[in-house]
Amino acid sequence: MLLQVPKVLTPEQVAQCRAALARADWTDGRATVGHLGEKVKRNRQVPEGHPIGREVGDIILAALERNALFISAALPLKVCPPLFNCYEGGETYGTHIDGSVYSVKGTMHRIRTDISATLFLTAPEDYDGGELTVEDRYGVHKVKLPAGDMVLYPSSSLHHVTPVTRGARISSFFWIQSMVREDDRRTMLLDLDTSIQQLNRLVPDEKSVIQLAGVYHNLLRLWSDT
Ligand code: NI
Repeated sequence: MLLQVPKVLTPEQVAQCRAALARADWTDGRATVGHLGEKVKRNRQVPEGHPIGREVGDIILAALERNALFISAALPLKVCPPLFNCYEGGETYGTHIDGSVYSVKGTMHRIRTDISATLFLTAPEDYDGGELTVEDRYGVHKVKLPAGDMVLYPSSSLHHVTPVTRGARISSFFWIQSMVREDDRRTMLLDLDTSIQQLNRLVPDEKSVIQLAGVYHNLLRLWSDT
């Protein structure tokens, strides 16, 4: 599933993150990819573990904890510390697939990358190009969202970022290990959860809705790993 999660950050939080990131030391993004990615990746990143990256990452992680759509869609078990990238002057990231396991720098922590996330920190009118382009079984999807919005997509998807030909595109990106590994199961659980919440508003205290909520939890119990 490719899903837009609107307003993860408020405009004030976006401004706070951007002001902090302006003080960071940006380095060549090729530091964090294998040799296949190295051939196609042209951007800059805040180095992993950089204190400013950690500070801004904590703002994002706190916002994610409070975001009901994110929790319902991702069913997160582990979220890696958010990273930050910048594309400008024609920079681009050619077609690739994200690595399957992310090692948190300086630790023994490993996160299986079930879901990839990009949180946009630049308003779309401030740059040209820079579309995150995701290929899945339903076709090719171009994603360019308002600052503060996030997109989630399966880490198994081929994707690329088109060249930024005007302005600069700053984003946060990170990976999530879900309690439910399979994308199609997560999609069904999100649909079921959304329907139950709607039904609950339409017919409060209806016993069959309570039973349906039980089915949701029993499926989650069956499919989740913690
Ligand atoms: Ni990627």
